[in-house]
This record gives sequence, structure tokens and C-alpha cells, in this order.
Amino acid sequence: MDIRSQFNPDTLDKMEEASLDELRAHQLEKLKWSVKHAYDNVPMYKQRFDQLGLHPDDIKSLDDLAKLPFTTKNDLRDNYPYGMFATPMDQVVRLHASSGTTGKPTVVGYTQNDIDTWANIVARSIRAAGGRRGDKLHNAYGYGLFTGGLGAHYGAERLGCTVIPMSGGQTEKQVRLIQDFQPDIIMVTPSYMLNLADEMDRQGIDPLSLKLRLGIFGAEPWTNELRRKVEERMGIRAMDIYGLSEVMGPGVAMECADSLGGPTIWEDHFYPEIVDPATGEVLPDGEMGELVFTTLSKEALPMIRYRTRDLTRLLPGTERRMRRIDKITGRSDDMMIIRGVNVFPTQVEEEILKINHFSESYEIHLARKGNMDGMEVHVELRPEHSSIDDSETKKLVKQLCHHVKSSIGISIAVKVREPGSITRSEGKAKRVYDERVIA
Ligand code: DLL
Repeated sequence: MDIRSQFNPDTLDKMEEASLDELRAHQLEKLKWSVKHAYDNVPMYKQRFDQLGLHPDDIKSLDDLAKLPFTTKNDLRDNYPYGMFATPMDQVVRLHASSGTTGKPTVVGYTQNDIDTWANIVARSIRAAGGRRGDKLHNAYGYGLFTGGLGAHYGAERLGCTVIPMSGGQTEKQVRLIQDFQPDIIMVTPSYMLNLADEMDRQGIDPLSLKLRLGIFGAEPWTNELRRKVEERMGIRAMDIYGLSEVMGPGVAMECADSLGGPTIWEDHFYPEIVDPATGEVLPDGEMGELVFTTLSKEALPMIRYRTRDLTRLLPGTERRMRRIDKITGRSDDMMIIRGVNVFPTQVEEEILKINHFSESYEIHLARKGNMDGMEVHVELRPEHSSIDDSETKKLVKQLCHHVKSSIGISIAVKVREPGSITRSEGKAKRVYDERVIA
């Protein structure tokens, strides 16, 4: 059947309305297919399963998944570029790749069916967030090897939106086009949304005068405090979209307008587990740990128990029976250890944004003095507060240090920088500057 025709913009998908029994039965059937597909076509999976004496036929229930070995980003690197593809290259119609800040990038591939399924899931995501056929959608996720731009693009078209394929960058022009084209929806990283909001201020455009009503934000961790700020500044509803290239791209999970409190995982395509990051033991729903995904329908690049490194917990479903993830606190790789205390950038963000005088732009600098690690947080005053005097600024700094000490448990230094001097993001924000010299 043509996968494109499976999407109807005006009604919920069959699986969004499925009962828990129907969902689990669907998942088991798809899981068996996916595991067999991986085993039969990817030498790495066959070798690993064989070593453990496991065979796809051993998957008789969803719980049996826990017997299978994990897959990691290193596996993709070791098999760079195409070693983990499960279909011949003449069936792979698209590649994407992660930027790969260290070493080789990770390369992912899609068949035409994968692309169509992805478009359907992103269309479903935009609809769940409150988007509708006929909406104009400004897409400021980067186009190119990053999955954000094209992933959002095809999904928005599938829903029947008018897409403005802006990509990232050219901030001044973005703002002009938002004013001229009057989109209803914007898809962009939350940090770049704030950069665009600052640019609107600079151009004297009142965001509240725009037609925008909905923002679909993701690709980086962001707190509910930031959500509140974005909603206030832009006069829109801000919804959380989650995804990762290894598993598909944007749209693995999406916050639904009728059930806030964590993105709903599209469990008919991605089977989630939460594991203890240290031992790999599967944890019960509700417990915090590392999110692991097994793809249920992907043809070109099936992923069996992929370790995302994202830390969260599974929450029960709502009207849709599919489970939700709690807002991602951060990735295990983003965790900073400051004098024995584990800290995520999002925790610091939460405290900065509680103080209204500070803008949403910040940087975290880590330095080592002697044997001690120290954290210096750089913040800016919002332009309307930039003329406050030194003693008032000192009070705000003291307040931030106090909040961080009492809620996170570490002592920090704070540097208040000139408004606009902290580098603005055009995609995923860089928050942490680690200046410690590792001996
Ligand atoms: O960032 C895919 C994407 C594009 C998602 C556009 C949403 C919107 P990668 O570049 O492979 O793919 O990065 C994936 O980004 O493992 C998380 O650590 C982080 N991430 C993505 N969405 C969220 C989110 C895309 N909503 C990595 N909240 C993931 C927190 C997120 N972190």
C-alpha cells in the first residue's frame, strides 16, 4: 500500500486511537519484523546475536527485547558510512549525517518508504501540536545534512501546510519574511527563536502583532521556564518536539495540544525503554534513566536498542495510549561534575530565567583553579533593565548565586555582560565552554 495515502490530515491516525492491547499487539508484530530484518541484513547484528546464542525467533514477547544487545553511536562510527544499512544502496534515496564534532560523523539512510513514513509521523506531530491543513509554516530548522529542516519540511507538506523553507541563519531576513509572509506556525530551535525575538526587538517589530500562534521547538534541551518566556515574548503556544537522527529525525515524540506534560512517543514506530545508564538494566516506567529506542518500521537503518544518552522517564499515555517522555533534562554527555555534584545546563537555565532582569542568553564557563573545578555563569541584563546601577546588579548576582547554591548545591561565580554580547544561536545553542585543562 502507498504509505503516503495512509495519512489523512483531518482525522487521527488509526494507531493514535488504538487501545493498549491493539498497540502492544502491533508493536510485537513489528518488533519481530524489525529484529529479523536487522539480523538478516546487517552483519553486525547477526554477529552480535549469534555470539549471545540469540535468534530473531527468540522474540516472543515485548519483554524479550531486553535480551538483545544495545546499539551505540560508536557502532555507527565503526561501520561508517554504510555498514549498518539493511537495504541495498539503490533503495536508499536520502542520507543525513550528524555534525560529528569529534571524529567521524554518523551517517543515516532512508528508503522511499522510510521518507514517507517520516513525513506521515511529522505531519501527525504538527497536527497533534495544533497545526492544521492550510496553515503557513515558517521552517527555520537547518536544511542540509541535519535532519531538522527536511524532516519538518516534508511533514508540514504532508499535512497540507504552506511551507516557507527558510532554514537557519540570515536572521534579519528571517524576521522580515516572518513579518511579510505572516506564518501561523514556526518550527525552529528554542534558542534560535529567542535570537529571532531579539532581532524583532531591534527592528521595532512587536511579536504580538504577528499572526504566529504556534511554535514547534526542539533539537536541544529547553526548560519550562524558557517555554514560559518564549510564549510571553512571542504571544504563541510553544510545543516540544523530540527526535534524533539515528532513530529518524524530528518527530520521534511530540507534545500534544490536548495532553501537555511531556511529548508522546509515536510508539507504533519507535519502541522505548528506560535503562540504568551505568548497568544497562531495564527500569520500570516512571523511573529516571537513559532513553533507548528500537525502530519498528525503518527499512534502510533499523536500530535495535539504540542508546540515545538522553535522560528522562516514561510517563503513562493519556487519550492516546502511547507513553510520553518527561521533558529531557539533558544528555548524559552534557552532565558537568562540579566538586562532586552532577549538574545539567538546564538546571542553571531554570535559575537564571527565574530572575526577570536577565535575558534568556547565557553561557556556562568551567575552569580549574588548583585542584578545584569552578563554574562561572555569564548572563546579560535585558535591554530594558540595562541602565540599573551597580548595587542593583550586585543584588541580582547575589540572588542568582543564592538560588543556584540552594537548588543545585554548588557555588558559582556570575559575570554580567553587555546586552547582546553573548553569542546568539542559529541552530543548536552552545551553552557550555569547558576551559579546564585535562591533564
Ligand atoms: O536534533 C532532530 C530534531 C530536529 C529534533 C528538529 C527536533 C527538532 P540530532 O541532531 O541527531 O537530531 O540530535 C538529537 O538532540 O538525542 C537530544 O539530545 C536532543 N534533542 C532533540 N530534541 C530535543 C528536545 C535532532 N525536544 C539530540 N528536547 C537528541 C531535548 C532534544 N533535547
